[in-house]
Amino acid sequence: MNIEALTATARAMVASGKGLLAMDESNGTCNKRFASVGIPQTVEMRRAWRELLLTTPGLSTCISGVILVDETIRQAAAVGMPFTRVAQDAGLLVGIKVDTGAKALAAHPGETVTEGLDGLRERLRSYFEMGARFAKWRGVIAVDDMRLPTPACTAVNAHALARYATLCQEAGLVPIIEPEVLMDGSHTQARCQEVTVAVLRSVFEQLVLQGVVLEAIVLKPNMVVAGLACTPENTPAEVADATLQCLRRVVPAAVPGIMFLSGGQSGEDASGRLNAMHIEGERPWPLSFSFARAIQHPALDIWAGKEANRVAAQRALMHRARCNSAALKGEYSTAMEAT
Ligand code: G3H
Repeated sequence: MNIEALTATARAMVASGKGLLAMDESNGTCNKRFASVGIPQTVEMRRAWRELLLTTPGLSTCISGVILVDETIRQAAAVGMPFTRVAQDAGLLVGIKVDTGAKALAAHPGETVTEGLDGLRERLRSYFEMGARFAKWRGVIAVDDMRLPTPACTAVNAHALARYATLCQEAGLVPIIEPEVLMDGSHTQARCQEVTVAVLRSVFEQLVLQGVVLEAIVLKPNMVVAGLACTPENTPAEVADATLQCLRRVVPAAVPGIMFLSGGQSGEDASGRLNAMHIEGERPWPLSFSFARAIQHPALDIWAGKEANRVAAQRALMHRARCNSAALKGEYSTAMEAT
């Protein structure tokens, strides 16, 4: 294992003012998003959308890397150049989602365990050969006011994340560790914090137990927010305080970077909350973003599957990328949304 190379990749992922563009929706999720705006759900339309994202002019000024999915890493731009080359030529690190999805957890109604460990060593080797330098695995944790998550759900997902992480480091890829506590439900922000702390504790316990090198991972957590059905919404300062308190309690200073998922927040909320964390003072790790929905929307709505809308959609994508980049310096304000 070349720890120096892995650490250098992790640091490049969280380079100053930059975050990740997650474009790793499974075909099913991508199709659902296409259907909601009337885009045909075909391989070619998914390819065209990913080409639009990857060829956005100036993307690498705000984005350090992209997370692809198996279908996309094997595709090419219309001119024939493989997407991996398109990304590298644009100054973007290539990442790959390697889990095979969250499946119902036996004996635990309403909960899931993420699968994809079978054959993972071989798949990682071939993704590395294709040019990938980091990988992503998402464990999904449902939460309610009392019962969920069960200790079993937390434990099996933490165990799988650590098994995936050791295999990634062996193969020369930086593992993004993504234990996502969902926003669905009416639970309070305090409940989200309690669960997020417990989940992250369990994840780090497994990472250490299984020999993961903490200097060569990136953590991708949820922000600490009340459930979507809980009113009123948290202010950006409340989210920043609760999230940083949670992370300070659990995440070792050795971790080279923390890159948040957006999880269903609006683009504006995600940027505002990220910004609030950057005007809050010192912390041991760089904080950044690894957003899918909070960057890709509203570009997807504007594109609507039509070539004539490509430039306007790329402009909208760059706008969100710039807002998030500004947030990493504490320079985002809602006034930016009017520009
Ligand atoms: O695993 C989830 C994606 O990489 C991030 O998606 O920002 O829409 O939550 P999201």
